[in-house]
Amino acid sequence: MSDKSVLLLGATGLVGGECLKLLLSVGDYQRIIVPVRSPLPMAVQDPRLEVHPVDFEQLDSFAGLFAVNHIISCLGTTIGKAGSRERFRRVDFTYAYETASGAAENGASHLLLVTALGADASSRIFYNRVKGELEQAVRGLPFQSVSIFRPSLILGDRRESRMGESIGKTLSGLLGFAVPDRYKPVAAGDLARAILAIARESRPGFRIIESDAIRRIARNIAV
Ligand SMILES: NC(=O)c1ccc[n+]([C@@H]2O[C@H](COP(=O)([O-])OP(=O)(O)OC[C@H]3O[C@@H](n4cnc5c(N)ncnc54)[C@H](OP(=O)(O)O)[C@@H]3O)[C@@H](O)[C@H]2O)c1
Repeated sequence: MSDKSVLLLGATGLVGGECLKLLLSVGDYQRIIVPVRSPLPMAVQDPRLEVHPVDFEQLDSFAGLFAVNHIISCLGTTIGKAGSRERFRRVDFTYAYETASGAAENGASHLLLVTALGADASSRIFYNRVKGELEQAVRGLPFQSVSIFRPSLILGDRRESRMGESIGKTLSGLLGFAVPDRYKPVAAGDLARAILAIARESRPGFRIIESDAIRRIARNIAV
């Protein structure tokens, strides 16, 4: 059993929830630190798990949580849920950046960050631009390894339904044969497995992993 620690952001969400289940089922981390704004959907009794209610507007007050080896970041919202572009940016850029920079300042070596296919700081599409700006910003942080996961549509059991996701799912089902692998939907569980596989390797440097590679890596991990 290792004595490594991980900070997991977004554990109440689809991808973060899959990461949490997976991390609890393996022995890679002795401490799994989970800052949340709302309670986890399931009760978990595991001495490795530390759940902390956090005000993401006051992250400086929670600096003690950031002394970890690895950080897995799956935070995110939609413009619809957030209520405005500014609120969306606050979550998808500011909270994600500030938590990453807190971990980097406290000596974390590896950032594993979920952004999205199409992330591009110069994109005319607001969502892609915010994701791209986040990728660019975290490259400047003093991690040994930065691994960016750029999934296409993510499939899994979500508590709420999202129209864009339902349309994407239907279209990719209908046109699956014509869609290149990097555009095909990826299962949240596969994304979690790929994150764990890349965390285990922790090769120094910066890398971007898209849906086709996510599926391939997920197939080959032993858990
Ligand atoms: N879903 C897709 O098809 C898709 C595709 C490509 C990329 N992505 C990206 O992948 C990442 C994970 O997506 P997901 O589908 O797992 O997202 P999700 O299910 O909506 O989960 C998002 C997480 O972020 C947290 N969060 C949202 N707003 C917050 C706020 N104001 N303050 C603090 N925490 C907040 C949520 O906490 P609460 O539970 O408290 O709300 C939840 O833990 C996101 O960055 C997303 O943009 C998603």
